[in-house]
Amino acid sequence: MSLENRVAIITGAGQGLGEAIALRLAEEGCKTVIADIDFEKAKKVAQKIENIYGKESLPFKVDVTKNEEVKLMVKRAVEKFSGIDILISNAGILKSYEITQFPEKDWRKIIEVNLTGYFLTAKEVAKIMKKQKRGVIIQINSKSGKKGSLWNSAYAASKFGGIGFTQSIALDLAPYNIRVNAVCPGNLLDSPLWVNSLYEQYAKKWGISKEEVRKRYESRVPLRRGCQYEDVTNLVVFLASDQSSYMTGQAINVTGGEEMR
Ligand SMILES: NC(=O)c1ccc[n+]([C@@H]2O[C@H](COP(=O)([O-])OP(=O)(O)OC[C@H]3O[C@@H](n4cnc5c(N)ncnc54)[C@H](O)[C@@H]3O)[C@@H](O)[C@H]2O)c1
Repeated sequence: MSLENRVAIITGAGQGLGEAIALRLAEEGCKTVIADIDFEKAKKVAQKIENIYGKESLPFKVDVTKNEEVKLMVKRAVEKFSGIDILISNAGILKSYEITQFPEKDWRKIIEVNLTGYFLTAKEVAKIMKKQKRGVIIQINSKSGKKGSLWNSAYAASKFGGIGFTQSIALDLAPYNIRVNAVCPGNLLDSPLWVNSLYEQYAKKWGISKEEVRKRYESRVPLRRGCQYEDVTNLVVFLASDQSSYMTGQAINVTGGEEMR
């Protein structure tokens, strides 16, 4: 167990990739804060962690776009666990429109959650980590943080911004032994985001079936499959551990080679 008794906050951990990261960090020995805007989901994940791994897990209701709520989350985490070793900034949303149809309120919301939410959580956690003189911040970014994609201008803009932010705060925080990196997954084709929303949106957009949408996305990947949670959690554990102690300011692809296409 490379991360025994480290304290990790994971935002957006109520479902999907955030939940998978929280479970994996608990498996590796972490105490976890399950932070999500949906408290019922956060509670279920925290309970699941305690049942499976017997590791302490604190569910917390937070909207990452609200500064006061983020401050309270950090305060509560420190009260309960006496420090914060790892922040996983994972909460993110996606809405897809062609640019001339993009509602301003959706644009603002995507930038608020994906970029400002990352800023607010990293800022508050960094205050604690600076005092500790150690810590690890990992942003869950996307392959869309490095390459634009059709009908995804707001999401790509928020994720490109996330990489600039990651690099910049990596410089701010390096003197305090705090490392900051981003992970850029490919398409998690079995995640709720795809199953509950994207297959349908893209099927409509292209006039094809949902199965054809999936095949289209798989065929773009040199390794010929969608990204799995484990592909991402393996890298998160490495970046959170001391094995990556000479890495900071990086944005690492986990895409099956898709970005080369
Ligand atoms: N699913 C994919 O294919 C994919 C690919 C690459 C990157 N990502 C990134 O992975 C991350 C997680 O994506 P996912 O697919 O698991 O999404 P998801 O929609 O399944 O889960 C996101 C979670 O974040 C929570 N959340 C939303 N807004 C919030 C807010 N304001 N404050 C706190 N919590 C909030 C939701 O309640 C939900 O539990 C995102 O940053 C996303 O951009 C996803």
